[in-house]
Amino acid sequence: MSGSRTFIAVKPDGVQRRRVGEIVQRFEKKGFKLVGFKLMQASKELLREHYWEHRNRPFYNKLVSYMSSGPVVAMVWQGLDVVKTGRKMMGQTNPTNSLPGTFRGDFCVIMGKNVIHGSDSVESAQREISLWFKESELCEREGCSAKWIY
Ligand code: PPS
Repeated sequence: MSGSRTFIAVKPDGVQRRRVGEIVQRFEKKGFKLVGFKLMQASKELLREHYWEHRNRPFYNKLVSYMSSGPVVAMVWQGLDVVKTGRKMMGQTNPTNSLPGTFRGDFCVIMGKNVIHGSDSVESAQREISLWFKESELCEREGCSAKWIY
């Protein structure tokens, strides 16, 4: 596999704002490879597990409800340093602190509805990918050369 993988989700507000295409486009333009993609209504059970490390924070239940309030787009992206770069492309948790040019800097205004989730470490990415995707749903696309990127 060339590079690492990260889990990216377009949150319900991002889907409602019709930002899916632009988010996919920016990851592709950067040079990352899409290896998993699905539009889905996530269950509260899946979301509680996904956000388990935040279970004692005051916003935990609100976050789970918001994430289950509409469809999300779950994706896996692959490439060199994709976890770290993906986080930079997202911006900060609070959109107010996010620079223009980042997803949160460009597409949203409040913390509770911040358009996109991205794994914060390679370890989190592995855990999140296995939570959201079966191995058979990930497509490495053999024969899709990356020689112009690396
Ligand atoms: S991070 O990404 O773990 O460093 O971010 P963190 O600030 O610790 O926040 C963890 C996730 O909780 C979301 N969050 C909130 N949701 C609703 N309301 C409030 N006040 C709030 N504060 C933080 C934040 O967006 C993170 O979720 P994801 O899906 O990773 O963005």
